[in-house]
Amino acid sequence: MLRKSLVVANWKMNGSLASNQTWYTRFLLQKLPDIDIVVIPSHIYLPQAAEYLKNTTIGFGAQDIANASHGAYTGQVSANMIKDFGSQYVIIGHSERRSLCQETDDLVAEKTKLALTAQLHAIVCVGETLEQRKANKTKDIIAKQLNTVLELCKNDDLAKLIVAYEPVWAIGTGLVATPEQAEEMHLFIRELIKQCVSSDVANNTRLLYGGSVNASNSANLFNKPNIDGGLIGGASLDADSFLQICMTAKR
Ligand code: 13P
Repeated sequence: MLRKSLVVANWKMNGSLASNQTWYTRFLLQKLPDIDIVVIPSHIYLPQAAEYLKNTTIGFGAQDIANASHGAYTGQVSANMIKDFGSQYVIIGHSERRSLCQETDDLVAEKTKLALTAQLHAIVCVGETLEQRKANKTKDIIAKQLNTVLELCKNDDLAKLIVAYEPVWAIGTGLVATPEQAEEMHLFIRELIKQCVSSDVANNTRLLYGGSVNASNSANLFNKPNIDGGLIGGASLDADSFLQICMTAKR
């Protein structure tokens, strides 16, 4: 298998200097599995991540970037700014940003292009709501979300593209997609990339599952051939449970 497992901690708007310090200290004492591990704190804590994670194998990055390189965008943070602090990754189009900040598929595509141009690993999130799943529209929604990104970026270097399938109904709810449901969507996403871009890019792109992943359900999800790791919210806030999840991702 070419694709290295990747497990990403999305801390969302949680943490503090003190609690992050405790997390890093505890996590870094452990023997880590040979997978890619990434921590995504709030923007304001990126310098702290850079300090604690330097000289380690753990990557870090931001939860969002602006859809512009610089200028009159009060409150926004650009790709180059997060890079200035050593970020290698950025989450784009998380469902919370789509719903709370009205981010559209086009905006998500623009941000992805800027992230890839800045040579950041762009973790592009897609996912359907419960209503959409019940109405049998899951694949249409995912195809629209992802194809908008792929159409805009297909001529860019996609080596750093990562896609996270995060069904909205599974985020923070304790309702996890079954490994079969998740695998079906991951296979579908890989096929979309193949059709829009190429077999090579489809085979090399890492696809993460997110939504109520914890140390008890992660192994069965990560065992599926098209699930290359996870994007972990709540369970990543505890260093021990995040480590346990990382342990189950080794192929
Ligand atoms: P939970 O793991 O808390 O469900 O969050 C998932 C998520 O949104 C990660 O980006």
